[in-house]
Amino acid sequence: MAKKQIDLSIDFCGVKFNNPFLLSSSPVSNSAEMVAEAFEAGWSGVAFKTLNSDRVRIVHPSPRMNPYHYGSKRLVGLQNVEQISDRPLKDNLLDFLYLKKNYPDRVLISSIMGFSNEEWAYLAKASEDNGADMLELNFSCPHMTIEGSGHKVGQANHLIEKFTETVKKAVSIPVLAKMTPNITDMTEPALYAKQGGADAIAAINTVRGISQIGLDDWTARPKVTGVGAISGTSGPAVKPIGLRFIADLAKCEQLGLPLSGQGGIETWIDALEYMLLGSTTVQVTTGIIHYGYRIVEDMIEGLSDYMAERDMTRVADLVGKALPNLQDTDKFDLDRQGTAQYDIDRCIGCGQCLIVCNDSAGQALEWDAEKRRPSLIEDKCLSCMVCSFVCPVSGLITYKEQPKTWQRQETEVMGKDLEDQLKLEACK
Ligand SMILES: Cc1cc2nc3c(=O)[nH]c(=O)nc-3n(C[C@H](O)[C@H](O)[C@H](O)COP(=O)(O)O)c2cc1C
Repeated sequence: MAKKQIDLSIDFCGVKFNNPFLLSSSPVSNSAEMVAEAFEAGWSGVAFKTLNSDRVRIVHPSPRMNPYHYGSKRLVGLQNVEQISDRPLKDNLLDFLYLKKNYPDRVLISSIMGFSNEEWAYLAKASEDNGADMLELNFSCPHMTIEGSGHKVGQANHLIEKFTETVKKAVSIPVLAKMTPNITDMTEPALYAKQGGADAIAAINTVRGISQIGLDDWTARPKVTGVGAISGTSGPAVKPIGLRFIADLAKCEQLGLPLSGQGGIETWIDALEYMLLGSTTVQVTTGIIHYGYRIVEDMIEGLSDYMAERDMTRVADLVGKALPNLQDTDKFDLDRQGTAQYDIDRCIGCGQCLIVCNDSAGQALEWDAEKRRPSLIEDKCLSCMVCSFVCPVSGLITYKEQPKTWQRQETEVMGKDLEDQLKLEACK
């Protein structure tokens, strides 16, 4: 039977996107030739590599990236010191004209960074005049070599408000403010962006980090002419941070702006998680650097199947669906406790559960050495579930909620015989 066609289109700031999947501003969106290839693959829009006004000469450090491999998993993260676009403004604007002429149904977001108020206005107007459908203000690059730019602006609320206001006065297209995650609370600068007139918030840019130190030369990577630097980390390693910031923004009632989420998205599931926490559109860089533009095909198929299975017809209905269930930890019902449960017939006897339970949990497993099988002492189980994290058989160990009356055994105190010698005065 032919699959039901699902319409994945979505409205974002009054602009129609064929699906929620966009390229984020980076090397994957550096030229019309590349973006055209991405559009052919199925991406609905692009935040073009951040434009520079030509007044400041941009030179990329060399080398400019370093992979963060962990164990056998390659590119868990990516470290980069790349600057904004080093191409002449004219070339980038000609690319805009080409893309709008040849792909009128795709959305072109011009990412810009000025180094003065006038430059922000100039880049904004030049982008609009040459076909940009929207603007993204880059307040967030964490490793600009030009002092006082990038995420330094994203941490100075009055500058965010001023530059956003300047841009809004210069153009009539919608404006996104792209925020830095190198800050504790993103809602504050986002509110200043709103005050300046921003129509939406994009987050996150890369997280300031160090992903590798050379053990022979004691230098962070990428190593640029003998030295390293704290620079931008992206990819799956930063996804939890990105999701957290999007959720914070989405839950801030005072903000009430649409969001474009990014940070570590590689699959339709990653993308959907961002949407369930409040992103209307999602953007991708590192996933494309790892696997190529074609990952959008799986994103389209995965999201379509997910919606078809649930008889959903509007992508917009997914946006923010997980927010009502996202509460502060003080809302947890601590009277309800549970334990692990083992489907022991499926056990392969590897003993991983025993090791982690003994060394990092409740020592709640007994081990039959002959049969090589664990058995759970339920009232010692802490329900931390680390046994299930290391078990190689998927679904063998699951969580079981216990009845309200159920009580966990108290942890044994080793030095019980020393009780009389305890000196508790200091604690009073
Ligand atoms: C090499 C590289 C260059 C980037 N350049 C820019 C840029 O010029 N402007 C911008 O707003 N973000 C830039 N970013 C940040 C990405 O757009 C994106 O916000 C970030 O990488 C998180 O998404 P990801 O995990 O999908 O890569 C760059 C990222 C990388 C890896």
